[in-house]
Amino acid sequence: MNKKEHVPAHIAVIMDGNGRWARQQGFARIRGHKQGVDSVREITRECAKKNIQQLTLYAFSQENWKRPQREIKFLMKLLKEFLISERKEVEENNIRLTAIGRIQGLPDDIQKEIALSIEKSRKNTGMILCLALNYGGRAEIVDAAQAIARDVKNGKMNIGEIDEETFKHYLYMKNMPDPDLLIRTGGDMRVSNFLLWEISYAELWVTPVCWPEFRKEHLEIALNDYRRRERRFGGLG
Ligand code: FPP
Repeated sequence: MNKKEHVPAHIAVIMDGNGRWARQQGFARIRGHKQGVDSVREITRECAKKNIQQLTLYAFSQENWKRPQREIKFLMKLLKEFLISERKEVEENNIRLTAIGRIQGLPDDIQKEIALSIEKSRKNTGMILCLALNYGGRAEIVDAAQAIARDVKNGKMNIGEIDEETFKHYLYMKNMPDPDLLIRTGGDMRVSNFLLWEISYAELWVTPVCWPEFRKEHLEIALNDYRRRERRFGGLG
């Protein structure tokens, strides 16, 4: 493949800095989340255009329940509106929508919209847009461990069969390619319990730009940087 065309198969994004961006502009924090939806729309469209296989967005973490009720309610409202209003766009761009996280812990109406968006886009063959919702990386590993223990107890699997490959199949999304590139906006140098198993060899790219201002030009800079990296996966390259 031409080096210039080389794009990551899977990009994961920690969309941080919504609140800070809003406060800097003199607005309430929730205004940042609202503006953040525009970034979600633009980056999704751009990634689909660039033939990225999967884009995974950290939209609501397990830890986000600690926020004030008003902010949580607003985020759920935004998410619901997004799921409904973007169905046409998802269809037009041949995107397959999926979700990871403890989806059963989300409000019923949100679960219903997620299920409907997944069902409606099930046959699409383009980019996978994966929303991480009520997601925690440690919880994902714990859930996998419980499912494996159940299968061992029921005689479906022997302990000796548990290796990295089989373990991976018990994570929230079977057959998901590991992220090649993890983007974090808002400048903090943390992984914040996101895709802990899957990002083992991801290239990290952090920008001080807050998510509501993150646009395709910034994505381009991240992709150019990614192209220059030499990925050795522990070997000598
Ligand atoms: C982190 O910013 C962002 C979130 C907790 C929520 C992200 C949600 C959206 C971008 C909108 C809804 C999503 C979709 C997919 C429609 P922060 O508030 O923690 O920022 P701060 O660090 O400045 O406080």
